[in-house]
Amino acid sequence: MRTTVGIIGAGPAGLLLARLLHNAGIDSVVLESRDRSYVEHRQRAGILEQGTVDVLRAAGAGERMDREGLRHDGIELRFARQRHRVDFPGLTGGRSVTVYAQTEVCKDLIALQLKEGGPLLFEAEALAVEDAESERPRVRFRHEGREDVLECDHVVGCDGFWGVARTAFPESLARVFERTYPYAWLGVLADVAPSHDELVYARHDRGFALLSMRSPSVSRLYLQVPADTDAEDWTDEAVWDELERRFETADDWRLERGPITQKSVTPMRSYVHEPMRHGRLFLAGDAAHIVPPTGAKGLNLAVGDVVTFARALVHERETGSPELLDAYSATCLRRVWQAERFSYDMTSMLHPGPGDSPFDARLQLARLGRIASSRAAETDLAEAYTGFPWE
Ligand code: FAD
Ligand code: DHB
Repeated sequence: MRTTVGIIGAGPAGLLLARLLHNAGIDSVVLESRDRSYVEHRQRAGILEQGTVDVLRAAGAGERMDREGLRHDGIELRFARQRHRVDFPGLTGGRSVTVYAQTEVCKDLIALQLKEGGPLLFEAEALAVEDAESERPRVRFRHEGREDVLECDHVVGCDGFWGVARTAFPESLARVFERTYPYAWLGVLADVAPSHDELVYARHDRGFALLSMRSPSVSRLYLQVPADTDAEDWTDEAVWDELERRFETADDWRLERGPITQKSVTPMRSYVHEPMRHGRLFLAGDAAHIVPPTGAKGLNLAVGDVVTFARALVHERETGSPELLDAYSATCLRRVWQAERFSYDMTSMLHPGPGDSPFDARLQLARLGRIASSRAAETDLAEAYTGFPWE
């Protein structure tokens, strides 16, 4: 099999890249190890930055998002039983975010790709990327019980944190920057209208809690839990009781309960693999970097990477100059490190750690208090949350 761009992974990064290339008249093949239903139902991100929304729309993948996505103009920070709203458009010159689940983004992109795009092979597992430094990199993969080879001009590893693309980088070239956290998120999906019309990020001495949503009738909620937690150890009632404690306010706000339909634990990690390019192999999205979920940057970073790659390839085709492809890693990493910084700041401000002292707790409250009382500090948060501009 032969194609111009071999794409490993049909998460948001791989699927959007295939769409962008298709729109630019460049052919690609997407290899995805899991089946379609798994990819379409894996519960993950929910918040799209303005720039992500604009890209999906321009790519022709925004029709349902525009209909069903919920525009959010702010978030609430909750701490010491107080509530503070951060007004995004007022602080950023009009920017906002959109609540539209990653599952739905993937469904929309898969439907488009199968209807209009190049091959998208499910249950096709990439085994290795070979000859990345040559003019003809190859992906060895297994599909329908047979091993095959995909010959490409370029390979883009969009295969997430556990993928194979990264392993094709020589050890002498790769540098990894990493931090783990002693806690995780227990995420639940519940059939109940969200108890607030915007997201609520709550810091409590018992731990962090987040109120988010998937639709006007489905809530998405998260609780900080110890890193080794098994989701099955939490009964539905215990989840609601703990959420209620951590969201407590001095006023009469109430948390509505409903049937929990899904429960899972997400580990927290910060991770960057540098560089993001080796020869004709490029990494994009979670394959190259992970942020802890506080601040909702992961999917949006993945989108930034593939937009950068697609533009660079189109630039090379139109001008003959590889300058943007050569700059790919450095261009992406500037944005990646800003998101790493923001996600780390949000995480460390909102999660009491197991070894924290009373001093640490006071510092967290002081950081939150600063945001609530300084327009400059609040603007910093709003700019980062709604998304850093793309180069
Ligand atoms: P993935 O979505 O991981 O896709 C990689 C794909 O590659 C997968 O389909 C996988 O099956 C496939 N694959 C792996 N190995 C192979 C192989 N060898 N061969 C073929 N295919 C392979 N981000 C946000 O921006 N906003 C949020 O609100 C947010 N909330 C989150 C909440 C949770 C609970 C979690 C877990 C994550 C959240 N994120 C959020 C992060 C976001 O989900 C990820 O950053 C995003 O999925 C990255 O997309 P990706 O395409 O790079 O990788
Ligand atoms: C969601 C996830 C996040 O990490 C976040 O910061 C906000 C919302 C969500 O899944 O809805």
